Amino acid sequence: MSVFAGYAPWYDLLYEDKNYSSEVEFVEERLRHHGTAPGKLLDLGCGTGVHAIEFARRGWSPAGIDLSQEMIAQASSRAEQAGLSIPFRQGDACQSGTERDFDAVVSLFHVASYQNNPKSLEGLFRTAHAALKPGGIFLFDYWYGGAVLTQGVETRVKVKERRPLRLTRIAQSNHDELNATVFVNYTLFCEDMDQGLIRRVEETHRMRYWFPFEIESSLRSCCFEPVGSYAWLSDAPPNSKTWAAYSIARKIAER
Ligand SMILES: C[S@@+](CC[C@H](N)C(=O)[O-])C[C@H]1O[C@@H](n2cnc3c(N)ncnc32)[C@H](O)[C@@H]1O
Repeated sequence: MSVFAGYAPWYDLLYEDKNYSSEVEFVEERLRHHGTAPGKLLDLGCGTGVHAIEFARRGWSPAGIDLSQEMIAQASSRAEQAGLSIPFRQGDACQSGTERDFDAVVSLFHVASYQNNPKSLEGLFRTAHAALKPGGIFLFDYWYGGAVLTQGVETRVKVKERRPLRLTRIAQSNHDELNATVFVNYTLFCEDMDQGLIRRVEETHRMRYWFPFEIESSLRSCCFEPVGSYAWLSDAPPNSKTWAAYSIARKIAER
């Protein structure tokens, strides 16, 4: 069973404040800036499909892959409810499938940090490479090492309420500095206030933080030309205050 199995039904409530629409606006602007107009777009680690659906509303033809069957089920039902036909499939984005001829590939909200070593990360990059047209653009974000080391990890509690549901999430993290990895131990208390029922869900998410020099070296070995690495939602360099960084790369021909 993948991580996100117990987490998936609660994912959208947990992130209801996340502004997917403005993220897509930003990413789309970056893609256009690098010469990619609306066309075919593949979302690796698409989760519950919110970015992909927003891309579809803006004239793109998206497709999505996610490891979690539960997240894919939610993505498919959300697209159906929106009257959109988007091919979402369950699968490991580190293993190339049959997706080809895409104008752009994105992988958003830390999917690259779920890849815990350079080999897995390069698996993700090779899938993006195989899916793209020559010259196509790959844009993805990840935990930025400089910010993780400066800010450190701490226990966080988040409470979300949408009656009759109340969700309390405790995130307790252990930092393995030698392996540039953070183990985030999530405990969710999922409460139905009307029925007085509480369910407890536990999951550990293993997150690898990356530095742009590692990312760019892996991109080069997967036949991408790195375009740049930036602080998330900006065009400034990553810095210790910005937990997430993103990189852009262009597909070059295999040597
Ligand atoms: C934090 S969620 C982000 C989901 C979505 N991109 C979003 O922005 O809401 C990370 C997602 O990455 C997926 N994931 C992690 N590793 C993956 C892999 N190797 N292949 C496909 N999906 C993966 C997880 O199942 C999860 O849905």
